[in-house]
Amino acid sequence: MMDRVFGLSLREKMLGLAVLSCLVVLFNYPQATVAQETNLRIQSWNLRYDSKPNDITVQQTIEGLNSTLPIDVDTKWFSNYTEQPWSSRRIGVKNEVQFNNPEIFTVNEGLHRQVEDLKELLGYPYIGVGRDDGGEAGEYEAVFYNPHALEVVSNDTFWLSDTPFEPSKYPGAGSYRSATVVHFRSLDTGSTFVLINAHLDDQSDDQRKLGAALVKYRAAYEVENKHVPVIFVGDFNSQVTGDSDGAYLISTGQQTFSESDLNSTFTDKYSNSLTDFNFLDILEETPAENRMGNLATFTGFKDTTSGFSRIDFQFASNTTDWEAVRFKVGDNWYDDSFYLSDHRPVISDIVLN
Ligand SMILES: *[C@@H]1O[C@H](CO)[C@@H](O)[C@H](O)[C@H]1NC(C)=O
Ligand SMILES: *[C@@H]1O[C@H](CO)[C@@H](O)[C@H](O)[C@H]1NC(C)=O
Ligand SMILES: *[C@@H]1O[C@H](CO)[C@@H](O)[C@H](O)[C@H]1NC(C)=O
Ligand SMILES: *[C@@H]1O[C@H](CO)[C@@H](O)[C@H](O)[C@H]1NC(C)=O
Ligand SMILES: *[C@@H]1O[C@H](CO)[C@@H](O)[C@H](O)[C@H]1NC(C)=O
Repeated sequence: MMDRVFGLSLREKMLGLAVLSCLVVLFNYPQATVAQETNLRIQSWNLRYDSKPNDITVQQTIEGLNSTLPIDVDTKWFSNYTEQPWSSRRIGVKNEVQFNNPEIFTVNEGLHRQVEDLKELLGYPYIGVGRDDGGEAGEYEAVFYNPHALEVVSNDTFWLSDTPFEPSKYPGAGSYRSATVVHFRSLDTGSTFVLINAHLDDQSDDQRKLGAALVKYRAAYEVENKHVPVIFVGDFNSQVTGDSDGAYLISTGQQTFSESDLNSTFTDKYSNSLTDFNFLDILEETPAENRMGNLATFTGFKDTTSGFSRIDFQFASNTTDWEAVRFKVGDNWYDDSFYLSDHRPVISDIVLN
């Protein structure tokens, strides 16, 4: 009787202990002998701004969910491609993020209400300001992070214009455009890195090129002075080739941009000598066998694939202190649901070494 605790004999327990000890040794061994690596999952997503605002609270949305499972024969698969209000989309967005469990989740087009909803729903704090006034007005290029995995060392926002240190619009651009810069430290390993989240203009190719050049200049400064990898994510409104490819080509060093065309207060502050600095496309750096999901990141709210394009990117510095592990462009529309956004989420796993 005494030796049959939880239905196991003493002999079974001894065997269990032996197996457990082996496992403990196995799992601890690599950490004790090699430098620890920092694993990061980064999810970036243009959420589509709240273009159909209403007063429905998060609690009301949750209470309105139907807990009865639909029957497949009755389901209207992919039936409604119409844009739904944010109040209907936010639970799906929350779930898509929670399921991926990223250390970092960045958004574009998030209005104040949207980023506050996600802070509540995800339990992740965020860094970022409204781009129209540096306060709460306009869209946030917010950077959410898992507070149990990362801490913020420093952060700032600059504008992708001729006057980067004040909320401002590039001449000819459709909107104010900003970049959020966060210097993170891993709580687990102490490794530090910089993440920059931006949304380039949808109307001015000159703005997109200037924006990419400013971010690249700032990133080179971080690499040279802080010796950290720099990750650059967001909606570029720029494709890899074609009429809109300027920002992609500048980011990846296939096209050049003159330092003298950038604001001199900015180039003085972030002065660096890395004239050859470039970003690498994390998708391209990912081994072919570890790439999955969709190619296009923009779908629109449509029932056809016409106009689908790859304009949301994740880049990282061409430095040797990180490696791409996995890459996926996820889904924004499930079969019995509706479009969660007009963009798909981009997700990568990278390791800092
Ligand atoms: C909930 O879903 C079930 C299964 O699809 C459906 O039969 C029912 O009408 C729905 N209820 C409401 C209130 O929409
Ligand atoms: C599709 O969604 C729109 C926007 O919420 C709604 O007005 C419309 O009734 C929906 N159509 C169908 C067929 O459910
Ligand atoms: C981000 O930067 C602002 C402005 O310098 C500062 O007030 C804030 O405390 C910083 N946030 C974190 C989490 O460090
Ligand atoms: C550079 O930007 C700063 C701050 O945003 C601004 O005060 C300054 O006038 C700009 N310089 C030029 C040459 O435009
Ligand atoms: C980064 O790219 C530049 C330009 O192609 C090159 O000169 C430099 O050697 C690269 N650095 C690394 C670490 O690959």
